Amino acid sequence: MTSKEKVLAYLESNKETFLSGEAIAKELGLSRNSIWKAVNELRKAGYNIEAINNKGYRLGTSNDIISAAGITSYLSESLLNLYSGNDLIRIYDTVNSTNRLAKEAAIAGANHGTIIIANEQTEGRGRKDHSFYSPKGGLYMSLILKPDKLSTMVPDTITIKTGNSVCDAIYSLLGIRPTLKPINDLFIDDKKICGILTEAGTEFETGDVQWIVIGIGINFDSDINAFPADIKKSATSLFAPGKATFTKNQLVAEILTNVIKNICI
Ligand code: BTN
Repeated sequence: MTSKEKVLAYLESNKETFLSGEAIAKELGLSRNSIWKAVNELRKAGYNIEAINNKGYRLGTSNDIISAAGITSYLSESLLNLYSGNDLIRIYDTVNSTNRLAKEAAIAGANHGTIIIANEQTEGRGRKDHSFYSPKGGLYMSLILKPDKLSTMVPDTITIKTGNSVCDAIYSLLGIRPTLKPINDLFIDDKKICGILTEAGTEFETGDVQWIVIGIGINFDSDINAFPADIKKSATSLFAPGKATFTKNQLVAEILTNVIKNICI
């Protein structure tokens, strides 16, 4: 981990608390100058880091930048072993489709648990070759899983269990439980909030499944008014733009925890 990542992880896991540069430096075994540099770099990257004389630094609550450090700060011990210090969490700003990237990564040998996340997709895909409108404000993620780590290989069961995992995650953070319309759509007040697309790679000769990719797209604090008219009438978002009461990092961590608990051995 770079100094910048270490400082971010420490601020993320102490959100709401002011921490002096000296205390952070001592805790992380870094110099005060490198803490100052790391804070500046994080600010340049868009993080809202508050600083108050004699109190120190604090990660602003309005900060909602998806980061590996932010996600792992919300994971429990068992998942931390899987996700700390490796290349399993891959975050992008704009991609064609996180499912497409995940499939390419799976073919290239990415490990079980690898997750690809983006703020925006230009060619988001839904089931039956439909497109999935994926502007900024949404959360787009694809999880690579290996068959030997799964408790079921029934495709519909995997998609439905993922849907329930997302419903549970939203309920625990928001207090509202979306309705899962089998097999892959989540609705709040009869409007679509999330779609799921599960894909797999098989060895043609044996029919053995080599990897599966579960793609989840959620309207998080999306500007629904700016959606194309045909989608707008049937879509909703968890929050209005900029009005989220929890972060995307929290939601990713909660979904990851539930999915792994519900479909992996
Ligand atoms: C559907 O509504 O039919 C399923 C939509 C699935 C969308 C998600 S967003 C993340 C991942 N990447 C994609 O291109 N599709 C899935």
